[in-house]
This record gives sequence, structure tokens and C-alpha cells, in this order.
Amino acid sequence: MSAAATPVVAPPGLVGGTLGCPDFRRRRGLRYAYYAGAMYKGIGSRALVVRMGRAGLLGFLGTGGLRPEEIAADLRGIAADLGGQGTYGANFLASPLDPAAERAAAELLVALEVPHVEAAAFTTVTPDLAWLRARGLQAGPDGGIVRPRQIVAKLSRPEVAALFLAPAPAPLLERLVAAGRLTPEEARLAAALPLADDLCVEADSGGHTDRGVLGVLLPFIRRQRDEARRARGWTTPIGVGAAGGLGTPEAVAAAFTLGADFVVTGSVNQCTAEAGTSDLAKDLLQTAEPQDTDLVPAGDMFELGAKVQVFKRGLLFPGRAKKLYELYRQLDSLDQLDARTREQLETRVFGRPLAAVYEETKAYYLTRRPEVIARAEQDPKHRMALVFRWYFVHSSRLARRGDSAGRADFQIHCGPALGAFNQLVRGTPREDWRHRHVDEIAGLLMEGAAAVLRERWAALAAG
Ligand SMILES: Cc1cc2nc3c(=O)[nH]c(=O)nc-3n(C[C@H](O)[C@H](O)[C@H](O)COP(=O)(O)O)c2cc1C
Repeated sequence: MSAAATPVVAPPGLVGGTLGCPDFRRRRGLRYAYYAGAMYKGIGSRALVVRMGRAGLLGFLGTGGLRPEEIAADLRGIAADLGGQGTYGANFLASPLDPAAERAAAELLVALEVPHVEAAAFTTVTPDLAWLRARGLQAGPDGGIVRPRQIVAKLSRPEVAALFLAPAPAPLLERLVAAGRLTPEEARLAAALPLADDLCVEADSGGHTDRGVLGVLLPFIRRQRDEARRARGWTTPIGVGAAGGLGTPEAVAAAFTLGADFVVTGSVNQCTAEAGTSDLAKDLLQTAEPQDTDLVPAGDMFELGAKVQVFKRGLLFPGRAKKLYELYRQLDSLDQLDARTREQLETRVFGRPLAAVYEETKAYYLTRRPEVIARAEQDPKHRMALVFRWYFVHSSRLARRGDSAGRADFQIHCGPALGAFNQLVRGTPREDWRHRHVDEIAGLLMEGAAAVLRERWAALAAG
């Protein structure tokens, strides 16, 4: 019997709005168990977050790389645009190399009463992560704990999930109380809560990625969550959601079938009218195929060997980024560059002498973090890293500004999900990114996933 002729035996009410965990939707005030993940430097823009909020959905402002005053202006603008009609969130990134920046970001999120926080890139529990969890907690009338903000932790490793399924470590809370940053009551309540309200398990995604496999990680971390709830006696649910590679209704349906309480998109949202990047970058992205991505060194965690997934077709950036990392691994100092390589770097990659790049970098850090330059002056390998990292900042800026002369060097974070979405909308008005809107993409993926599940259910039941 064909699927079309099969009577639908799935629950007749199975629609986009019923997928995932009802508690996640209720707690966060959402129509769908879905959110648009943050995209750094305001690519996940004010417009994107407001558009989601107005549609009864959730988007996170891409705060990474923005100055505190820019973040504050965007957050105030979002709250004003929404006027209480809809919710919103902001990204909170671990910043191991610059703890002062992490603290400033945490204080801003608390001061501006941001209702949803997406914590990402954490591998340990930092004082400011613990503070963000604890600050403002109050005992509720029913014996529960009133939380001023909901925290979702985005992660790709079970050992990091374990940190967020436990409360903030007691010594950390005690130190925060001793420093006058928390009241004893806030610390007491934080000790009775997991560090995060929800976990988002990120598989092979655009941007920073461990290229995890969703089918492995999601069931694993769900069981870890169930075990932690049992062992610690948590009474409130903790959602476990899925991100990475979700660009079609089928992929979203698969994530829910694996047990996702909610789903998260990223790459598909960068190629929309609302994304805060250039028309030129979006023009390139709307032609992406699934195989048009590559894994390259990450500029912000260059020395650590972290990787980001980027769009590659027709661009020189991926090859150049890899070459710089190779040189960094091989050499101890820029002085060890052979004449030909130096000449190629200066003329083709940097477009200026490496000495000028260092001077520019030095001027930047001396006003913000002079200790970085103090170290670089003593350590030639660190100096080389700073010079090479300049290219990663530059290439990302070229893409966001849409500098056509620098097109070959565009650094555009993107995963294969976008290629799959592009195929889905080819030949429809949404082939053109100008007709793609983040809230409509959410609807298309969620209602589409419900339709896929109804159809598959019927086909499976028919044998
Ligand atoms: C252009 C771009 C920038 C991103 N920047 C951030 C970021 O600053 N912080 C963050 O937590 N995640 C960031 N991400 C990850 C997304 O929030 C999301 O988790 C991921 O893109 C989902 O996987 P997908 O790309 O396969 O849809 C970024 C992703 C993209 C595509």
C-alpha cells in the first residue's frame, strides 16, 4: 500500500506545536520546542531575535565579539521592540583567555534582566557561570525556586553535560558569597538546582564544532540526564535538545525521534533577511550544497587547535587558514619563515608586511589587555599566534561587511544543514534569501517535521 493511501494512525493532533517537550515550551513561553542559536558578532542580530520573539518563538542575540556597549544597546533595543510581546535571549560565551570579558557579559545579562541565556563553549564551571545561575534566585511560595532567567547549555561532550547536570560547585558558591557577589540565600538555592535548565546537544554544526554524531550523543546525554535526575532527586524536568545538521523537516523529525525535547538551528538562519551579515555573504550561502563546507582552525582558539566549520566553495580562506595553523605548529617564531613563504603571506594573505600586522595588533591590545602584549614581547611563538589571528578577525569582517574585493578571503561559518535547506526551497520564492525569514523557517521545519512523522508512522504501521 502506498504511503499516500495509508490511513494516518499517528495521533491526529501531531502538529509542529506538539513536537518536543511541553514543559520546555511552557517554561520558556514558546509556540514551538525550537530556538534559533546565537551567531557571533550580531549575525544573530537584533532583527532576528525580534522577529522570532514577535512570532512567539525564541532567538538568541550573537553577543560573541561585540563590545559591552553594543550588546547593551541591542538588548535594550530588542526589549523595546518587543514591548513585552514575546521573549528573547542572549549568548553567554566562555572566555578562558579573558575572564574580565566573561564577567562583564554576565553582569550585563543580569543587569538587563535577559530572560533566556544560551551558555556555550564552557568546559569548566567558571565563577561567572555559577554567579549567573545563582544571582536573583528566590524561594517560591510552593517550596520551589523562582529563577530570574532560564539557562540552556550548548555542549557536545558528556563530561561537559555532567557539569551542567550538577549544581554549581559549593566552594565556588562560598567564594562568591565571601566576595559579596551572592547572598547566602542565593548560594543555598543554587546548591539545590542544576547549573542549567536545559542542555542543547550540538552535533556537526556550522561554526565551532566537535563534529559529534547526533544519533550517538543525544540518547547518551538523555540517559545521563535521567540518571542525574534520579541520583540527585531533581524534581523539575531538564530538557535535552538537539542542534547541528537540522535543515530539513526530515532531519528535525529524526531529532525528535531520537528523543530531543527541543531543536535548534543555526546555519539556515544566517541566510535570511534578518541575519546581520552582508548581502554578498548571503548570495554565496543561498547557493551552498551540503558538501560545500570545510573544517578549519578557529581564530579565537587558534593556539588550542579548535576547529570551525565554514563555507568553502570558490573561497581561498579555508586553505589559507589551514596553512597558517600548519606554520604555527611547525615554527617557533615568525623569524623562521623562509623568504618565499613570508613574501606570499605578506602579498597574498595579509596584504601588508607582517611587522605592520603586529603593530596594528599591538595597538589594539595595549588599550584593552596590555598583558597580552607583555607576553608577546617575551614569547615569539605567542607573537606569531597574534599575527596569524589577525587574519581570522580580518576575514570574518570582510564577509560581514561584504567587501567584494576581499571575497576570496571571506570567513563564513556554516554547516551542511544549509545545503540541505537550499535544496528544499529551490524553485520556490525562498530560493532567494530576501524571501527567507527566521520565523517562517521555524514553521516550515516544525510543521514539515510533524508531517514527516505522520507519514512515516502511517507507512510503518502499514508494514
Ligand atoms: C555563522 C554562525 C555563527 C555562530 N556563532 C555562534 C556563537 O557566537 N555562539 C554560539 O553559541 N553558537 C554559535 N553558532 C552555532 C549556532 O548557534 C548553532 O548552535 C549551530 O549553528 C547549529 O548547527 P547548524 O549550523 O548545523 O544548524 C554559530 C553558527 C553559525 C552558522
